Amino acid sequence: MTMTIDQDKPSIMQTNSGPTVKPCTLVIFGGSGDLTRRKLLPAIYNLVLDGLLPPNYAVVGIGRKTWSDDEFRTVAREGIEKFSRQSIQEDKWEEFARRLRYFSGAIDDPNMYHGLRSQIEEVETQFDLPGHRIFYLAIPPTSFAPSCLGLQQAGLIYPPELPDRISRVIVEKPIGHDLESARAINVTIGEVFDESQIYRIDHYLGKETVQNIMVLRFANSIFEPIWNAKYIDHIQITVSEAEGLGTRASYYEEAGALRDMVQNHILQLLCLIAMEPPYSLDPDVIRNARMEVLRCLHPIRGKDVEQFTVRAQYSHGTANDQEVPGYRREEGVKADSTTETFVALKLFIENWRWSGVPFYLRTGKAMPARASEIAVQFKDIPEILFNTMPEARQAPNVLTLRIQPHEGMSLRIMSKIPGNRARSHPVEMNFNYGDAFSEPSPEAYERLLLDVMAGDASLFMRRDAVEASWAWITDILEGWKAHGGRWLPEYPAGTRGPVEADRLIESDNRKWRLV
Ligand code: BG6
Repeated sequence: MTMTIDQDKPSIMQTNSGPTVKPCTLVIFGGSGDLTRRKLLPAIYNLVLDGLLPPNYAVVGIGRKTWSDDEFRTVAREGIEKFSRQSIQEDKWEEFARRLRYFSGAIDDPNMYHGLRSQIEEVETQFDLPGHRIFYLAIPPTSFAPSCLGLQQAGLIYPPELPDRISRVIVEKPIGHDLESARAINVTIGEVFDESQIYRIDHYLGKETVQNIMVLRFANSIFEPIWNAKYIDHIQITVSEAEGLGTRASYYEEAGALRDMVQNHILQLLCLIAMEPPYSLDPDVIRNARMEVLRCLHPIRGKDVEQFTVRAQYSHGTANDQEVPGYRREEGVKADSTTETFVALKLFIENWRWSGVPFYLRTGKAMPARASEIAVQFKDIPEILFNTMPEARQAPNVLTLRIQPHEGMSLRIMSKIPGNRARSHPVEMNFNYGDAFSEPSPEAYERLLLDVMAGDASLFMRRDAVEASWAWITDILEGWKAHGGRWLPEYPAGTRGPVEADRLIESDNRKWRLV
């Protein structure tokens, strides 16, 4: 069974008329880095191709490497050729490249910022730009303070209340290592920028399928009445990655799966799936609704840490058809590292809607496949009519939102097997984005950059939410620390995680889904 777009209906629901983007200069700290090459420049280029940027804009990359503008353009082109959703169109490329500039300097050198200011002003004059500036901090958190202070001291930041001058800052993760360090970062940035000027990125919120969670829940009438503890048995959120560590040892060794994926991306998925209906689409109303979920998370502390969490590390195996060394053998990883590459959790949300409903979360690297999904499993039907035989229980209904890949959703329902006997079998009603819509989905960074330019903070993390999620995560980290990294089962690369994770859910008579 498949679902496609209904041709009889004015099918595209328009909730707003699209963002209004003012001409601006995007200044990227970390301009010679990986994120800029793989994600940011391709995203800007796609926005240009899709006609979503105003004709007037400029991009200034700042980095330690002593590149010329042309060298920056060459790297940008290579990045776009490799990572962009749409390929290079020569006629558009020339104009795009002209608007890319590079400024070489060290972030911790206070003298650099006056040179940067001259560069930005020169670019603004050349392209007739009004002085709207967006600063993207694609740099390690230790550089957040010097970059913000440097910008402030060079007079590059305007106060928020000026109607004709915009200054905004985009902050990349990791925003902290625990609650205390996250607070310190927020204080530092908050000394220079007003909260209304700060856009903390969680790129999962920019994914099309993640934005669709709110549409699914609140643009349809059939789900909300059953979206609660009365009808839902449990919810599973899985973010499984086939890739191992790659080249990010220095970051990941200090982070691990809980900080890297759960504190931000997975808790945000949880917020969207569990939040109360916001009363409007105003960014702060939506952010309040997400925030309320974080406030209701039952803390996992002390003894509960052992009972409700599993951490593990991959050992040697085969993932993605390739031999993967054990995590401790990866380049840059300590031979006795106790960093977790997998985590599974069971949690509860203490409010009227979700009381008693377990949420099972899991994420890991070097797993069998790249697959992220949210599965909402409904309660069993009563043991009458079609469900009287314990050895042949009817499969429960499951609504699965496929975040990536194969973006879409499916609903498992029971159906009669054709024939003269009363036999039933589960079938799937399936919706695939690719089949239903001809428009390709933009990349998360395209949407997020556009929103910052338009001043829409709905898909960004507010300070209170970052700190609330760190507060919850820090309890778990402390529980783990108290055991000195002793709980660390292994799972061979290419497998679904350790048996301990199976036990976590199976002791509740439930099973992880096969993804
Ligand atoms: C990043 C993490 O935030 O998200 C990475 O630091 C992870 O470790 C990545 O691989 C996953 O993002 P996506 O969009 O590929 O699912």
